[in-house]
Amino acid sequence: MVMILNVNGRSVSVTGDPTARLSHVLRDELGLTGLKEGCLEGECGACTILVDGAPVHACLMLAFQAQGREIVTVEGTDRDGLRAGLQAAFVAGGAVQCGYCTPGMVMAAEGLLKANPAPSTDEIRHALAGNICRCTGHDSIVRAVAAEAARRREART
Ligand code: FES
Ligand code: FES
Repeated sequence: MVMILNVNGRSVSVTGDPTARLSHVLRDELGLTGLKEGCLEGECGACTILVDGAPVHACLMLAFQAQGREIVTVEGTDRDGLRAGLQAAFVAGGAVQCGYCTPGMVMAAEGLLKANPAPSTDEIRHALAGNICRCTGHDSIVRAVAAEAARRREART
């Protein structure tokens, strides 16, 4: 089946199994290997992307369900190949070690900041509750998200 997907602002044609996991299609067919696959059960958050602006575990979405939706992966947040925004905040804040969880964390945080530009610490923790980091603990990640939220608010004033 031919599917037309809107990924990172581009319309792309994918031929394949419509019941394939969206995470597989993004990684294997479109080469968007920023998103990671871990548990494939919706438990780890490594595959988090934005669908119509909201965080979604791509391992739990089937390819055909993504048609007509706006898909953004971590590559879509990397302006001009330069780490921007949350990615830079994670690096600056020591919130990255092995990096396996980082793309999913960044996308979950992007979804939060789109919906809530001034989240409390508890709100950040809640938004990232579906994403597991086995390296840093969550404290440095939460601080990085709070720092980026503050930077964005300042940039708007
Ligand atoms: S791989 Fe999707 S939530 Fe773990
Ligand atoms: S940095 Fe290694 S799992 Fe989070």
